[in-house]
Amino acid sequence: MQGSVLLTIAVLGGTGKEGKGLAYRWAKAGYRVLIGSRSSEKAVTAASEIMQLLEGAASVVGTTNLEAAQQADIVVVTVPYSAHRDTLENVKDALKGKLLIDTTVPLIPPKVSKVQMPSAGSAAQEAREILGAEAEVAAAFQNVSHKHLLGEEVVECDVLVTGTSKNARAEVLKLVEATGLTGWDAGPIENSVVVEGLTSVLININKQYGSTYAGIRITGASNK
Ligand SMILES: NC(=O)c1ccc[n+]([C@@H]2O[C@H](COP(=O)([O-])OP(=O)(O)OC[C@H]3O[C@@H](n4cnc5c(N)ncnc54)[C@H](OP(=O)(O)O)[C@@H]3O)[C@@H](O)[C@H]2O)c1
Repeated sequence: MQGSVLLTIAVLGGTGKEGKGLAYRWAKAGYRVLIGSRSSEKAVTAASEIMQLLEGAASVVGTTNLEAAQQADIVVVTVPYSAHRDTLENVKDALKGKLLIDTTVPLIPPKVSKVQMPSAGSAAQEAREILGAEAEVAAAFQNVSHKHLLGEEVVECDVLVTGTSKNARAEVLKLVEATGLTGWDAGPIENSVVVEGLTSVLININKQYGSTYAGIRITGASNK
């Protein structure tokens, strides 16, 4: 894998809340970022918003999801679960030999505070099924509210990283560090079911306790 300065990250659905926040943080850290969208015009607008926030000192370009996936080293998917399968099938060929980072939580409205996993086991395992063995799949950021990301705020939520190989997880942990958050290797992709499920638990806590962005922290361990 290339040095981080040269890596290009595609954020599919990067026009949305979570994707734009992550794109902002990676662009700020020096990565070249491609914002993907179903509409290249919408992507160009989102990219220029991020460039303005960073006063032009970054590389952020908007294009279609497919072109972004084709041009990137690492591809991140940040679309609602209802669009997860279609989005991945659309870019499947472009992902061969690459790493996909899935941020998806399989929320099924209106009961978003109830854990409802798909038959594959989790959204990340569904991505694995769609893409096959030719792409590495990792899952991360499912517990991090977008409200923290588009700015300089310290994020009080750790990131549990699961993935199809130790190398894939190590690559994602570097990207977590670049966002300013603390990441943990949380094991194989099958463990993503727990991480994805935690988001419904956090939504439930927000409802019960009047918070807006409850998060998680690992205690009793050090990742340094
Ligand atoms: N929001 C959070 O705080 C948060 C936190 C953790 C994890 N996540 C996960 O991150 C993912 C994105 O969440 P979000 O809140 O950022 O979503 P969002 O803002 O509602 O949507 C993100 C983008 O997805 C694309 N999209 C929306 N509907 C689509 C459809 N029917 N078909 C294809 N593309 C569609 C849109 O991009 P274009 O119109 O430009 O194509 C949209 O800008 C979700 O899976 C969520 O579980 C979110």
